[in-house]
Amino acid sequence: MSVIKLTTQNFRNLSSLSINFHPNLNFIIGDNGSGKSSLLEALFYLGHGKSFRTSKVDSLACHDTQNFVVSVKDSNDQQLGLSRDISTGISHVKIDGQGFNRLSVLAKNIAIQIVTPESFKLFFGGPKERRRFIDLGMFHVKHDFPIIWKTFNKVLKQRNANIRLECKSVIGGHQSTQSYWTEQFCELSEKVSNLRGSYVSEIISELNYWLDILLPSLTERVTVQYLQGWPLKHTLFDALNSNKEKEMAFGYSLYGAHKFDVKFLLDKKPIETQLSRGQQKLFLLALTFAQASFIARVKLVKPILLIDDIGAELDINSRTVLSKAIEKLDCQVIITAIDSNALLPFLGEQGIRKYSMFHVKHGKVLEKYPDDSE
Ligand SMILES: Nc1ncnc2c1ncn2[C@@H]1O[C@H](COP(=O)(O)OP(=O)(O)OP(=O)(O)O)[C@@H](O)[C@H]1O
Ligand SMILES: [Mg+2]
Repeated sequence: MSVIKLTTQNFRNLSSLSINFHPNLNFIIGDNGSGKSSLLEALFYLGHGKSFRTSKVDSLACHDTQNFVVSVKDSNDQQLGLSRDISTGISHVKIDGQGFNRLSVLAKNIAIQIVTPESFKLFFGGPKERRRFIDLGMFHVKHDFPIIWKTFNKVLKQRNANIRLECKSVIGGHQSTQSYWTEQFCELSEKVSNLRGSYVSEIISELNYWLDILLPSLTERVTVQYLQGWPLKHTLFDALNSNKEKEMAFGYSLYGAHKFDVKFLLDKKPIETQLSRGQQKLFLLALTFAQASFIARVKLVKPILLIDDIGAELDINSRTVLSKAIEKLDCQVIITAIDSNALLPFLGEQGIRKYSMFHVKHGKVLEKYPDDSE
């Protein structure tokens, strides 16, 4: 699936935008502050019901306006829309004219992935972003995952609330309730962990293919550690049992499927200590491509890949290998750059032939064609 047309109303500085995308490859160029990231953010917002830049969704409304709308027409002729009224705080989803209250219905219809100049710092900076990355793929590929994960989070919340109650009560008045929640929690953690474990190994086999193109010197040297969220040598139940007092002191569940992580090693050392910034970005791109091609294979809805500010961190050689990798990717790609120089490896003699190019200026979009001169 690809996005054929995007329209926005009052979304950041894109007060009234309409853009017809190429089904495969699109370049958006424009000066600082012109609206490139906002355009990608509008697509991301439609796919995820949130922004990749802020947790304050109301700040997405154009200054001095009370509501904003993002809608797309996709290659299956489906119309998806998401609007928000910031005075009431109500979001509204529309799919082919039918209204929905839950944002999660969008993710079933469109799979959006993004790489920004900040992504690799976040990805290698801590487990939160790695968890988000893996679970995005899980959501689209493992069909049982969304419902199990939702139940898991409900149980986690109950268990945490009970830990805090237990701290307050005199002699463990809530113990019997807690053993019920702990049992549920362990069972669901195991289920989630099995699904994640198999997903991570599936992604790794795809990763090698993309590393071969983007960072061939790393081939056969990268290994991945999947950390399930509790010590490997113990059952979760034992780990929780022997850390009861510690849990009471912290007031939340210290082990479980929510604490998983994925570590990447190069020659057995943490990859982020071995690679330069540009190489880290290429590595994350390889991983993103691995995830995108895997989602495309398993799910009927093909992912749409957004790359913001492609020139950042990448020299001409890196951009050349990246253009080769993108050519092999079987999904729609939308790339932004400050100027067309950053896109030379894509556009030159050896470059990709079929694409659309757009110029963004003060929140307005002008289409440029490949043979347009600057
Ligand atoms: N809620 C808003 N309403 C109106 N304008 C906004 C809002 N939020 C941000 N802006 C403005 O929108 C403009 C576009 O921002 P955006 O981040 O999309 O630019 P960009 O083209 O990605 O720039 P850069 O090359 O620096 O990354 C900026 O001038 C910003 O100040
Ligand atoms: Mg930007």
